[in-house]
Amino acid sequence: MQIIDGKALSSKIRAEISAQVAELKSKGVEACLAVILVGNDPSSELYVKNKVKASEEVGIKSILCRFPLTVTEKELIDEIERLNADDTVSGILVQLPLPDSIDEKKITAHIDVNKDVDGFSAYQTGLLCLGTPDLVPCTPQGIIALIESTGVKIAGKHAVIVGRSNIVGRPTLQLLLQRDATVTICHSKTKNIAEITRQADIIVAAVGKPCFVTPDMIKEGAVVVDVGINAVDGKLVGDVDPAVVGKASAYTPVPGGIGVVSNMMVMDLLTRNQ
Ligand code: GUN
Repeated sequence: MQIIDGKALSSKIRAEISAQVAELKSKGVEACLAVILVGNDPSSELYVKNKVKASEEVGIKSILCRFPLTVTEKELIDEIERLNADDTVSGILVQLPLPDSIDEKKITAHIDVNKDVDGFSAYQTGLLCLGTPDLVPCTPQGIIALIESTGVKIAGKHAVIVGRSNIVGRPTLQLLLQRDATVTICHSKTKNIAEITRQADIIVAAVGKPCFVTPDMIKEGAVVVDVGINAVDGKLVGDVDPAVVGKASAYTPVPGGIGVVSNMMVMDLLTRNQ
């Protein structure tokens, strides 16, 4: 049984990216990440803090553009247009979710598709679905890196994803399919989820429910990737019951699994986007 060490993988990727950043700098090219944060929701603050920290670690400049909850759609769009036009900005992230008063799709649609380092735009999503990805969402990219780090070959495996979000479930389906897995997505209307997850060689849990995937739901020897970030009694808990360690062949813990790796994937996109 292997506990997949996200921190170790992230350190390895960080070293590679730092070297690329230094090489680009020596040629006078400097990446810059702009992050837009509305309000001060604790999880969003943490996401943004970690992305800014990751950019500092690899030597990429970052700008944090903060707005109060009372911000209007026009003010946000004006800021995005300003960042789109700024040649020194190579990537733009609008931290989600946005407050209910703001139309999330309308706002993110204004990001220049070539600076869309979240990969959430219709254009980048379309490229991913066509099997010719350009800027790929960081968490799905991190999930693939974690699975591949185990040495398990994805081709021909049955991968079951629990959760169909645009941020994780759907793009992860595309990346696994591109690597020749047979992929099933389970969601809130799926009947007998456990019957399906028990057939999985690879399980990706991204459902947003603490300890949703229990040992009886997995097959002996499955690779289990936990993408959950749930706060329970002030503690960070994943979507997978850690007791699966007795049955899985490899498992990514929360914390210390996907989180640190996905932040580095954003940095990778920024350096490749130069
Ligand atoms: N909120 C939760 N995950 C993400 C992410 O990957 N990108 C953005 N922009 N917001 C998020």
